[in-house]
Amino acid sequence: MAHKTRVGVLISGGGTNLQAIIDASKSNRIDARVVFVGSDNPKAYGLKRAHKHGIPTFVIDYETIMKETRGRPLEDLVPEGFDLERVLAGQDLLHASSNRMKAQRYFCTRAIAEAALLREMATYPFDLLVLAGFMRILTPYFIDRVNTDPSQPRIMNIHPALLPSFPGVDGYGDTYRYGCKVGGCTVHFVDYGEDTGPIIRQKAFEITPDDTIDTVREKGLKLEWHLYLECIQLFAEGRLRVVSKTYTLENGTEFNRKVVEIAT
Ligand code: GRF
Repeated sequence: MAHKTRVGVLISGGGTNLQAIIDASKSNRIDARVVFVGSDNPKAYGLKRAHKHGIPTFVIDYETIMKETRGRPLEDLVPEGFDLERVLAGQDLLHASSNRMKAQRYFCTRAIAEAALLREMATYPFDLLVLAGFMRILTPYFIDRVNTDPSQPRIMNIHPALLPSFPGVDGYGDTYRYGCKVGGCTVHFVDYGEDTGPIIRQKAFEITPDDTIDTVREKGLKLEWHLYLECIQLFAEGRLRVVSKTYTLENGTEFNRKVVEIAT
């Protein structure tokens, strides 16, 4: 049997994207298999989906970690090798103007939770980490430890909007509330910002006058299930490459853009 790409999946909720990935891998529609499912939420229904298919699961309960660290000196709790200054310098999540104490607390508590995630994930070697409705932001501490080869990112996320419009937690809701005529979903590699990483592929759908927020969500989710499979398959075939390109306006201003090239 040809080598199958080993996919780890992180979820927080229902896991319909996870289900699409499991089904496609079981029926050999993608050259990938799911090697673990992790969640920050012990009640995520997606964990049940994984159990049904005999896929190992684990939970890192972020909420409990946040509660337990409250009021305790974080220097004693942060993982070995955690370098706050490095994380603060690299991150693209909090504004430079943010209160330093607040930023420090944010990144220290995340690193504690992320170190626990990494410990669990270390049990299951994987090639690609797929975020499928994982509602936590990953910080540079975690990302650098997964993307050990900077030229080959290997964390993918699916976002329920046509990025860069409507990043954040409610892409379909924001699209609908804005009155957009077109909605969509995006699969991208994860970088140091929130929903900012290089875009792999997007799919769009029309929003008609009789659509409701629920029908918009339905339309979007259906597209997501296909889009994620396509992107995972492209990764499995080794066809994705992130390249930096520069272009210059007539007035001489230079821009940099990161593009995911898809080999034919
Ligand atoms: C999807 O809309 C995804 O784009 C977003 O969270 C939702 C997860 O849905 N990030 P499910 O858990 O895969 O059903």
